[in-house]
Amino acid sequence: MRPSLTSRLGTLRHVADDTEAVTMDKIVSLCRRRGFVFPSSEIYGGLGSTYDYGHYGVLMKNNIRAQWFRTMVQERDDMVALDSAVILNPRVWEASGHVAGFSDPLIDCKTCKLRFRADRLEDSHCGQKPSKRPGETSACELTEARQFNLMFQTQVGAMEDGSSTAFLRPETAQGIFINFKNVMQLARRKPPFGIAQTGKSFRNEITPGNFLFRVREFEQMEMEYFVPPDEAQHWYEYWLEQRFQWYLDLGLRRDRLRIREHEAGERSHYSSATSDIEYLYPMGWLELEGVANRGDFDLTAHTTHSGTKLEWVGQDGERYTPHVVEPAVSIERIFVAMLVDGYDEEVVADRDRTVLRLHPQIAPVKAAILPLVAKSDEMVSKARALQDELRHRHMVEYDDGGQIGRRYRRQDEIGTPWAFTIDEQTLEDDTVTVRERDSLAQERLPLSGVRSWLEDALDRPWRPDPGRCLKSSGDPGV
Ligand code: GAP
Repeated sequence: MRPSLTSRLGTLRHVADDTEAVTMDKIVSLCRRRGFVFPSSEIYGGLGSTYDYGHYGVLMKNNIRAQWFRTMVQERDDMVALDSAVILNPRVWEASGHVAGFSDPLIDCKTCKLRFRADRLEDSHCGQKPSKRPGETSACELTEARQFNLMFQTQVGAMEDGSSTAFLRPETAQGIFINFKNVMQLARRKPPFGIAQTGKSFRNEITPGNFLFRVREFEQMEMEYFVPPDEAQHWYEYWLEQRFQWYLDLGLRRDRLRIREHEAGERSHYSSATSDIEYLYPMGWLELEGVANRGDFDLTAHTTHSGTKLEWVGQDGERYTPHVVEPAVSIERIFVAMLVDGYDEEVVADRDRTVLRLHPQIAPVKAAILPLVAKSDEMVSKARALQDELRHRHMVEYDDGGQIGRRYRRQDEIGTPWAFTIDEQTLEDDTVTVRERDSLAQERLPLSGVRSWLEDALDRPWRPDPGRCLKSSGDPGV
């Protein structure tokens, strides 16, 4: 039997009242301070809205991708994986409609020389000081709106004429459609079945911003589910529900998630129905993930343009072009939502602590291993042995630098759910203290049982603590 938890909650008090908000500034600052994410090319002055991920950012991104892959592929019989090229034959983008229509309306200001999205002028700031909305003063000289294609162009091979022009993919989805026939035959699949892939996509966004929320280079996780035409509506509803539940299972708070169905005029050219799963970011309710019923648009378009029939043909002669349901999201949008959802500040025993209450499966480091006295060879050697035992299966971190309280704070800030402390008692009876990030409860465990304890803990469902108080404000001005 496990020893009971010794709660230290009596010493805990939240700093903020219900009205205080998690701002994007707090998230950006934590990411920078702890090396999750920092501006890219900084020694050259940066490159607007481009970021590099440090150690903990890489670990957290890997965990988000791994959870998606586990749920979408590993735990299902009806799914196969794909990793298609980033640069495809440019005709793919003609067939898909991206060359003609993947654009946003662009407006230039001849006075401040900045460019704005015509449909987002309200949210934009012009270059004058103090900054105004574009067009707000008579000094602004705005051009008529023109369409600006968001695809990045590049050249394939040594020739630099028009024949070598190619594009960096703006979505991973098209790589899936053009492989439909290959995969269906080689993986011996029959609709309904899905093809899932993760990978970088590139969009020359006119107004990137809000940290990682809208960037020009991001990692998409997309799945195209091919179904008999008369089942499309059923699978559209099914995937919307599945994807919504996935966020709840990973601990995002229910009251910060909602589903918003697109109105007819808002939908992409290929879609007959689309819903966004929205999250209450500090900027307000915004798209986290999109779930679309793409009908037979893509397979029909590629059949027409390539001359290869992309259809299902059954042994009994039945044939049809499958319809497609697509859940699509970027790791960046999940990354930000999870940081905002998990961020909290409180006072514990009269000292401030910032804590990231991430789902343990998402947390970059699963457990910290802390010898209480760094100068004690015996403690260090037991801590190192525990680290060696755990690190084969889990990302753990050894830390012997500074006071134990400081070390706990460092781990709280990067979201480490558990810390194992090796102390004097360990040397007497081979037990360690385990401290929980969320409750601050502590208990003693036999050293030999730590590994199985950690594995059980990682398997347990996790829910955010309803008593936390920092809120996502949803105020566009924050
Ligand atoms: N294949 C469909 C497709 O790409 P989308 O709504 O344009 O649809 C899908 O993009 C998802 O990709 C969005 O829900 C969002 O999570 C993410 N996404 C799109 N543009 C992004 C950007 N500039 N930065 C970060 N994530 C982005």
